[in-house]
Amino acid sequence: MSNYHTRVTIIGAGPAGLVLGHLLSLAGIDNLILERRSREYVEARVRAGVLERASVSLLELAGVGDRLRREGLVHEGIYLQFNGGRHHIDFRELADGAVTVYGQQEVVKDLIADRLAHGWPTVFEAEATTIADADSLGPRVLFRQQGDEHSVTSAFVAACDGTHGIGHRSIPTLTTYTLDYPYAWLGILARARPGTDELVYSYSDRGFALYSMRSTSVSRLYLQVPAGEDLGGWSHDRIWAELKARLESPGLVVNEGSITEVGLTPMRSTVSTPMRFGNVFLAGDAAHIVPPTGAKGLNLALQDALELASAIIESVYEHDAAGLEGYSEHCLGRVWRAQRFANYMTRLLHLDYAADEFARQLQLADQRGVVDSMAEATSLAERYVGPALDARSERIVKWFR
Ligand code: FAD
Ligand code: DHB
Repeated sequence: MSNYHTRVTIIGAGPAGLVLGHLLSLAGIDNLILERRSREYVEARVRAGVLERASVSLLELAGVGDRLRREGLVHEGIYLQFNGGRHHIDFRELADGAVTVYGQQEVVKDLIADRLAHGWPTVFEAEATTIADADSLGPRVLFRQQGDEHSVTSAFVAACDGTHGIGHRSIPTLTTYTLDYPYAWLGILARARPGTDELVYSYSDRGFALYSMRSTSVSRLYLQVPAGEDLGGWSHDRIWAELKARLESPGLVVNEGSITEVGLTPMRSTVSTPMRFGNVFLAGDAAHIVPPTGAKGLNLALQDALELASAIIESVYEHDAAGLEGYSEHCLGRVWRAQRFANYMTRLLHLDYAADEFARQLQLADQRGVVDSMAEATSLAERYVGPALDARSERIVKWFR
């Protein structure tokens, strides 16, 4: 067994772990990233695609915004479609902002390329198995690589290891709150020109559908399906027919193309609290999952990483532990607001299989409300785009070398 030492051990090379490692490295704080999968696997994993304005600013601040600026699609609104109408929610007018459509795996590729170019320590195909002495000054992470066991000791451990990681299992005081939705999303990626300039979120009596994209030649589309759906029943022909039935309306055509990826995402909300135990911190999906309707999962992961990086930098360079002490509470405030928004968007737009007439009328009233009321549309726009990066975050730049 080899024993290593670093200042911060980061478990997971998803968006949370990579951004955290990036900011710490820029500030000269040693860190090691352990990732269970190969680099190729992590870079090919298709997931989210919408970056809030603060996430874009953060990636620019971290020095990995060049390709994002060149290739990201800036969207100044979305369409909500229901009850025979398509309604534009204008982010520029209502919230003085925009989001950027740029695939999560592109963010991951940019961060990994930059990390490896700098030579910052990263071990792929290294699975963390145990976090020991979590409440001590020197927690230890045991990991397995190519059949060999190793350990790494550090002042801080950041478990950025997603839903199925070991982070949340290592915190004995953790409480997890959960809400399961009775449906899932069937997502496809297709070589097809998007038939829309901005995302279309569509309610129909056949179920919800979302028209998104990755570029001017790649479409990303989603269909609401019942929880536990078997992908085997979904031929490509059936997928296109269903997408057309749920999305097409005057002025909107679904362009077909070759489907390169099909996957199912369960619709689930979880929040684990507290996000800290001793010197072990949870960030991103390791601590919370939001249903994808509000496009918040990736953004929350990036914001946790920024919060934790700021807290560690302040504790190391300014001997100020307030950020570490307040980390969990600070993040959870934002997480619950995102849960509220994702739940609102989910219930606004999905077909509730069990709804009685009363429940359906309430949903209709909510749908009309967001179209008829400027205040409701503004609230949706502000929450979708998210706040600008706060001044504290920009302060950490002064520690960058
Ligand atoms: P992850 O991206 O999950 O990264 C965690 C990393 O830790 C992984 O690379 C994993 O391999 C690694 N790891 C796990 N355990 C270990 C271990 N023991 N040792 C070492 N490494 C480990 N959000 C949206 O907003 N919109 C979407 O459309 C959307 N679609 C999604 C589809 C799927 C299938 C999934 C799973 C998520 C989706 N999300 C979506 C959510 C969004 O992608 C996540 O919120 C985001 O990936 C969170 O980033 P993260 O870094 O916290 O976790
Ligand atoms: C995408 C995913 C989302 O969850 C969402 O709300 C909007 C877009 C996407 O993958 O493009």
